[in-house]
Amino acid sequence: MATFPFPMPSGWFGLCYAHELAPGQLKKVRLAGRDLAVFRSESGEIAAINNYCPHLGAPLHMGSVVGETVRCPFHHWQWNGQGECTAIPYANKIPDKARTDAIPIREINGMIMGWHHPHSASPHYEVQFIDALNGSREGWGEVHYQEFTLPTCVQEIAENDVDHAHFPYLHNTQGLYETESVFDGPIKTSTSAMQHVLEHLEGDADPDAEYLLHRYSHGPGSVTVHATGVPGAQPDVFGEFVLYHVATPIEDDQTHVRWSMVLSKNIETDDAGKSVLAYMSQGVYEDIPIWEEKVYQTNPVLCDGDGPIARNRKWFEQFYID
Ligand code: FES
Ligand SMILES: [Fe+2]
Repeated sequence: MATFPFPMPSGWFGLCYAHELAPGQLKKVRLAGRDLAVFRSESGEIAAINNYCPHLGAPLHMGSVVGETVRCPFHHWQWNGQGECTAIPYANKIPDKARTDAIPIREINGMIMGWHHPHSASPHYEVQFIDALNGSREGWGEVHYQEFTLPTCVQEIAENDVDHAHFPYLHNTQGLYETESVFDGPIKTSTSAMQHVLEHLEGDADPDAEYLLHRYSHGPGSVTVHATGVPGAQPDVFGEFVLYHVATPIEDDQTHVRWSMVLSKNIETDDAGKSVLAYMSQGVYEDIPIWEEKVYQTNPVLCDGDGPIARNRKWFEQFYID
């Protein structure tokens, strides 16, 4: 089993897709080694509280949503989204200590995101808002979902992205060479020219086309990959593609990843558009056997052709809070 010399990162992480919880539904979600009861109240508000009832420890996810609360299955105490006990059917007085942990929540980009911090500090950055996944979504096609549980930690998955040198050897493509990278506190932005992907997909790319891959990491838990200049089947039609990658650290060596992928409507039904979707989703299966067996090198021997692995590790350190 892989072990890593750092704790669980703090930040915004995925709890589930928003469409998985209708009003009145609840589920158990594991985040950073603990279980949460995540529920949508009857009025539609999302909350995530400790899954184990402070009374005698019953699992709240086996209870039910009643109004704005979760009712424990064991003795029917009710807990609201702030972690307060609001009703005990057989007591005259609710004990002052009847409280449980609730974590900050955001419903955005078709996801339910939860804030993890080892000392329960408040969020110091926000989840990125993605036009293609919110509101009217004008000009964007259907959202495609894909999820995996990966046998490694969040940092190793992020490192794969900047490990340029493995692309030709493991994935048979060229690297994601960054033309521009900006590190600004918890936000990392990079842009890569992706001409070689056009060649890979089409065999005959327009040398003047500007196919760019923009990547935005808002904290350790999400990466938005936004491709512009994706050529459609018709000449002079260029579309866009968004892959929203949301990670959830489950245990030290286990990460759940949820992808939401969407093409702009003008290339959605093209073969080119479909091949972009297939290209993006195939690679991770080639990485999995490596992650299963690899051993984390704290002081790796790097060479001049490697990507910005050390810089990425340095950026990640800000999310490790003891
Ligand atoms: S254990 Fe939850 S109400 Fe008793
Ligand atoms: Fe990879």
